[in-house]
Amino acid sequence: MCGIVGYFGPSQNSVEIVLEGLKRLEYRGYDSAGVSFIDEHNELQNYKKAGKLDNLKEELKGKNLIARTCIGHTRWATHGGVTDENAHPHHNDILSIIHNGIIENANELKKELMSQGVKFKSETDSESFLELVSFELRNGKPILEAISDSFRRIHGNSAFVVLYPKTGEIFAIKRGAPLVCGINEITSEALVSSDPYALAGIVHKLYFPEDEVIVHLSGGNKNLVNFYELDLTKTTRYLSKKQDMTVTVSEKGEYEHFMLKEIHEQPELIRNLTQYYFAGEGRETLERIGHFSPKRIYISACGTAAYAGLVVRDFLEGINRIPTNVELASEFRYRNPILSEGDFGIFVSQSGETADTLAAQSLCKKSGIKTLSIVNVDGSTLFRECDDNLLIRAGVEIGVASTKAFTQQALTGRLMSAAFAGDLKDENKKVALSGKFALLAERIDKLLAASDSIKTVAEAIYNYKGFFYTGRGAYFPIALEGALKLKEIAYVHAEGYASGELKHGPIALIDEEMVNIALVAPDLFEKTVSNIQEIKARKGVIVSVGPRGNQELQALSDYYIPLDFDGLEELAPLYVNVVNQLLAYYMAKFKGTDIDKPRNLAKSVTVE
Ligand code: G6P
Repeated sequence: MCGIVGYFGPSQNSVEIVLEGLKRLEYRGYDSAGVSFIDEHNELQNYKKAGKLDNLKEELKGKNLIARTCIGHTRWATHGGVTDENAHPHHNDILSIIHNGIIENANELKKELMSQGVKFKSETDSESFLELVSFELRNGKPILEAISDSFRRIHGNSAFVVLYPKTGEIFAIKRGAPLVCGINEITSEALVSSDPYALAGIVHKLYFPEDEVIVHLSGGNKNLVNFYELDLTKTTRYLSKKQDMTVTVSEKGEYEHFMLKEIHEQPELIRNLTQYYFAGEGRETLERIGHFSPKRIYISACGTAAYAGLVVRDFLEGINRIPTNVELASEFRYRNPILSEGDFGIFVSQSGETADTLAAQSLCKKSGIKTLSIVNVDGSTLFRECDDNLLIRAGVEIGVASTKAFTQQALTGRLMSAAFAGDLKDENKKVALSGKFALLAERIDKLLAASDSIKTVAEAIYNYKGFFYTGRGAYFPIALEGALKLKEIAYVHAEGYASGELKHGPIALIDEEMVNIALVAPDLFEKTVSNIQEIKARKGVIVSVGPRGNQELQALSDYYIPLDFDGLEELAPLYVNVVNQLLAYYMAKFKGTDIDKPRNLAKSVTVE
């Protein structure tokens, strides 16, 4: 969703630095972009364009971009259409601001300001904050006070960055929205962003301010960054962290798309995950988590992460026999869930910034139950809010359609299940589990090496009208995730269904224009095959993903993707999932869609 980058420092290339930061945030999804900067004559310059960042770059061509202070934004429209006027930054003669989130009382504030003669240029809620702060400034309040008093009046979750041309300084503040700042003490640079990824390789130290803390970037000064409470007293309400300077910007390398690269990273990531949790830094965390004994578990998440949650539920119920509910985070708090002592909330997320997942966590925290995250981004809001965290160690995921994060989330959940069961104290059990992980990595390696056969199937089926992904038991979540992948990147209608449920309605849709991707595991084989028969009888096209060398299945299928299930046991669904990832990828490629940045989607959904 919206991206924020601000720079304050000695470099005269602040505009380029900010544009580079925005480029790194493109993967999160956006529909317009803009920058504000103070030029070498101390004048505020403002440029913004609807569409891709390249449109903005085109607009900036030939302009004098020498500037030491700059703020930039990529907007994902909520209030008001995708137009140049509605793009951020919003500015007037004394201020420029960028905003992520939603101002719930914007209409009320606008009305009040209009009655005082203020004129609005855009349809956005964001401009109400610009004019509110400006109003206070014009009434003689100093900048910090003007920001603080205005922010107190804002309802809803938001992050703001303010550029104050009079002094050339940058201020930022947030409530329930991601914000990070970073400094480089050697170069005296201070930056702010909505995502630490934008700051990778530039800063040595990161600060994650808590809600309602004013951040003041004062690059070049003794303190490159200062923090204030709303009453303007200095504060230490932030988490500071050394930035790992080895975190570099992800490149596509030999791959055509980040998604394909990320699919291919999976075997190595699986190996690294076991290494990290069995022999590395993660060992202690897993041991600590092994001391928890939840009576009942609620897993809450959105999108792909929620489907990974279903896989984790099957581990927790099947192996640990702990009753586990999986809840869509966007629904959880509206159900008035019964949370009691001994319950445990687990939140699965790649970004750790998904607004609904954070709200679900907050509900559990308020009700007094323990909360744990299974998360990719170290230091994210979810990471900071939970009582404990299991990092999934997937590295930066750029493709909007999540792939490697799903696998790592599910496997981290498997490690958690082993910790709850006390299996990690038993050397034999530990060796057996790491053997299973290694086997999974090896099978995925082989599958990837033979991915041309999946590409051939994709080429044959990508133009069909609709797709049903079916599976039973542990393969049902994989069917849901497979259909989601296809919808996200190939823009075709696809549904994940429990094989046995198809005849209770959806079978009415089956004809020769419908494809059934049937996930046929060796367990429940016969039952799944009879469901395929039902679809075949109604002329549906069958693509079966099933055990190698099964002639019955092969004969029944129009296309047959054979797999080697033996020895993988409960991890086999994650192996099958890679077939679905590749199928979706190649179908989207044949359709010619924007695979890494599919239309209308955002990588990290930071509004409700
Ligand atoms: C968005 C992304 C999905 C992701 C979901 C949850 O919808 O496009 O790929 O699964 O958010 O995101 P999270 O960061 O919480 O895993």
